[in-house]
Amino acid sequence: MKMHFDEKIWLTISFGIIMGFMLITGYQAFALNMGPPSHSETIDPQKVDQTAPFDEPGIKQIGENEYEVVMTLQLFNFTPMEIEVPAGATVHFTLTSKDVIHGFQVVNTNINAMVMPGHIQKISQTFDQPGEFLVICNEYCGAGHQVMSTVIKVK
Ligand code: CUA
Repeated sequence: MKMHFDEKIWLTISFGIIMGFMLITGYQAFALNMGPPSHSETIDPQKVDQTAPFDEPGIKQIGENEYEVVMTLQLFNFTPMEIEVPAGATVHFTLTSKDVIHGFQVVNTNINAMVMPGHIQKISQTFDQPGEFLVICNEYCGAGHQVMSTVIKVK
């Protein structure tokens, strides 16, 4: 096969770029240990009510203006129903689903998580400004999906 010199140059450059990206990705994954989370926590979705900490869902103060919220998501609500924290509070959410895939999106924050049965989802957020933050389920989960919401009150 006869190939133009220009074509050879471009083939070499594009192959080089691909190899470069693969090396960068490999370096990040193996040397810098950057990668998707693994060994994430799991739970038997049938036994959520009997498994700590989900046997006692609710809000607990764990430090100076630091709170832990243990929450279960189910058709079609969030437990606990209402969360209230003071302004400036850092809240650590521990979430799981008791039935199907739900969403946990807190409007006007960066929180947007998928909550799957069998998995434990953890997110932390500091609420600097007082206000009411709407929490919605953004994964279609059935006939009552559109009413699945709650509120985080920051006083
Ligand atoms: Cu839960 Cu949509």
